[in-house]
Amino acid sequence: MEVINPWASHQFKDYARLRDEFGIEEFKFDLPDAPRLFRRGIIFGHRDFQLIYDRIKRNEDFAVLTGLMPSGRMHFGHKMTIDQVVYYQNHGGDVHIAVADIEAYASRGISLDKARKIALEEYVPSYLALGISPERAEVYFQSKRREVKDLAWQLGKKININEFLKIYGFGNEANMSHIFSPLIQVGDILHVQLDRFGGRRPTVVPVGVDQDPHLRLTRDLVDRWRMFSVVKQGDKIGVFYRGKNEERVIPEIKAVLEDFGLKMEENIPYKALYLSGFEDEKEMLMRINEKLIEYEKRENPFGFFAPSATYHRLITGLTGEKMSSSVPDSAIFLTDSPKEARRKVMRAITGGGATLEEHRKYGGKPEKCSVYEFFAYHLIDDDKYLKEIYDSCKKGDRTCGTCKKEAAGIVEEWMKEFQEKREQAKDMVKDIVRED
Ligand code: TRP
Ligand code: SF4
Repeated sequence: MEVINPWASHQFKDYARLRDEFGIEEFKFDLPDAPRLFRRGIIFGHRDFQLIYDRIKRNEDFAVLTGLMPSGRMHFGHKMTIDQVVYYQNHGGDVHIAVADIEAYASRGISLDKARKIALEEYVPSYLALGISPERAEVYFQSKRREVKDLAWQLGKKININEFLKIYGFGNEANMSHIFSPLIQVGDILHVQLDRFGGRRPTVVPVGVDQDPHLRLTRDLVDRWRMFSVVKQGDKIGVFYRGKNEERVIPEIKAVLEDFGLKMEENIPYKALYLSGFEDEKEMLMRINEKLIEYEKRENPFGFFAPSATYHRLITGLTGEKMSSSVPDSAIFLTDSPKEARRKVMRAITGGGATLEEHRKYGGKPEKCSVYEFFAYHLIDDDKYLKEIYDSCKKGDRTCGTCKKEAAGIVEEWMKEFQEKREQAKDMVKDIVRED
């Protein structure tokens, strides 16, 4: 099996294959007021999103957790994550954003002071200007949050080096801080379920698909630390207890699950309880699990909900390669001047024909065009109009010159407005940043 290296800059081409290979499910939820990243298949996959979908539908609380490495300038690739966070915040999620300063130190040698400066001056004002409200939201530093670091070393006890190396392809030269950093990310993802941060609840982690190894690790660890497993068994649901004192525990959980009004059969020597007589099995699995997590809290400090995750495609850079801070022309940075942004768009690699003549004759390839991608991901909200661009490019009616001018115009305007908001947002940085 292939390993995804979250620290290498690679481009993924075949998202359907990635899904199959890693057991990521296709994202097909019909969200209320779905923003364009959801409507257009840019968020192409998920794990366990049903949990979040239900909470949104039922207006119940859930946590949103993501993190960014403060390692350079913030660009439109990073904006995708924040756009999703804004959506969740507006639909009932409480927001936690990690400044991944430990990871930046461990993997890139960026000092904590430098990371802090980059976070406060470069990233956080942009989060706010993109629409994150300081209410029910926080930005915190990995290095300063004790619970994150504690969970990292505590939960790591249940994975050995062999299993770890199957997930991450660390080479012999990798330093130990870097090797430890995925566990810090596990701490990030799970610590919001501790009481101080809102207690046990489903958590959605919106990320680029390169982060999936961290989610697999987290979800595995969660499962290993649980007191119960809840699985379907034919037309029944089996709850299996993994601890001691089953004579006490099994009747206790039977009482806890009584409210559902299902038929229950216990098998104490097998440490099992079987439930039957439900209609919607998936729904029931979720409900039972919720109840058990609440129950086991008394005895198990690490009985968490497995995090849900959504995966977005990584945006192609304007140079045709990955969008990356280290290739300045590949990315439009949120603090580029509007003129600079315009210039970069005008120079972008498109999917147009080699000559105008060919383009007219054979049409262009919008699906391989960084300008079209920019329209779809960031610039054009009107689905019908986007489709028109797509079709007329395919037919060769629309030329790349037209597209670029249009994109440049929209970007320039957008940047002006955004940067004004960003200036104003600087005063609010202190309202969202937590120091512990
Ligand atoms: N590893 C992420 C990156 O490379 C940053 C990150 C740290 C993160 N903690 C997280 C992402 C928790 C999602 C959830 O940018
Ligand atoms: Fe891209 Fe537009 Fe050119 Fe088509 S016409 S390839 S969408 S820039």
